[in-house]
Amino acid sequence: MRILFYVPGESDGGWRAALAAALPQAEVRAWQPGDDAPADYAVVWHPPAAMFAGRTGLKGVFSLGAGVDGMLDLFDLLPPDLPLVRTEDAGMGTLMAEYALHAVTRHFRRFDELEVSRAAARWAPLRARERKDFAVGVMGLGVLGSRITDAFLHFGFPVRGWSRAAKALPGVDCHAGPDGLPAFLDGLSALVCVLPLTSETRGILCRATLSQLAQGAYLVNVARGGHLVEPDLLALLAEGQLSGATLDVFSEEPLPASHPFWGEPRITITPHCAAHTPRDAAVSQIAGKILALEQGMSVSGVVDRQNGY
Ligand code: NAP
Ligand code: GLV
Repeated sequence: MRILFYVPGESDGGWRAALAAALPQAEVRAWQPGDDAPADYAVVWHPPAAMFAGRTGLKGVFSLGAGVDGMLDLFDLLPPDLPLVRTEDAGMGTLMAEYALHAVTRHFRRFDELEVSRAAARWAPLRARERKDFAVGVMGLGVLGSRITDAFLHFGFPVRGWSRAAKALPGVDCHAGPDGLPAFLDGLSALVCVLPLTSETRGILCRATLSQLAQGAYLVNVARGGHLVEPDLLALLAEGQLSGATLDVFSEEPLPASHPFWGEPRITITPHCAAHTPRDAAVSQIAGKILALEQGMSVSGVVDRQNGY
């Protein structure tokens, strides 16, 4: 079995070594420009189109991340029946849940304000916000979103969720589709976005939607930069409709030094690290799925190319 591997900037060969150890019967080859030798599977993150142009004989392509928006342009180069498989959880759910919980509870418990007092050596206790009045909404109730709703439920917050198709998650006030969006957004105190980036979800965090949250609401975006209309966030902060945001993803990454977000103290910025793919768990998941495909079995996590996720 021949596996083509591509991750931009992977210098230590650690992923390839882990894959080779998990599938000792496989030859794992780092793809280089010009390599059009046969391969059975490809394991990739942000691959260049040249890796797939004119290539036949692949039995599966595995994305080392949960989101496949970076691969959408490649879909047209690949046969329609070739499974494109994304990484499902593999430890990312825990990372996402703790990131979202940290960002929202930091705001809920007013730690950002307490840090200002501490910097001024001022002893200034603050009144706690009312948990029962602090509804948290999670956009995207898939593998990662459902882990995030669990975390907020565990801490006793009222939790709402929004997905494409109707869902029933215990304890979560679930809404679905464009018709369910206004009731989902209405008066939320915090909104966490963990949607895939598709033609339907691009720009969904904009003035029209964010204005439906409670005055002074808090935004967390761990999905993709393309979900947020960045000038709208700055305007809504200036107007007081939003009181702050924690952003892990941006329309341009790395976020350019000249970007106005760097100068806005109410925006916490992290460099797309909310949930790095944990190597061992991801490799073991992919190896298991390759063996299943070899035996003619179906696997989960196959991207629906029509829906784009
Ligand atoms: P997933 O399991 O495919 O879940 C996606 C969820 O979004 C599903 O609930 C889906 O609804 C919902 N959705 C999709 N399109 C929608 C629409 N038009 N309207 C309403 N809901 C819609 O994906 P996942 O594994 O949870 O990952 C989600 C995203 O997280 C990834 O695509 C990626 O962009 C992001 N991510 C970021 C990082 C980071 O470090 N920042 C790390 C990993 C992932 P249905 O349930 O009805 O299908
Ligand atoms: C990271 O952003 C991923 O989609 O896994």
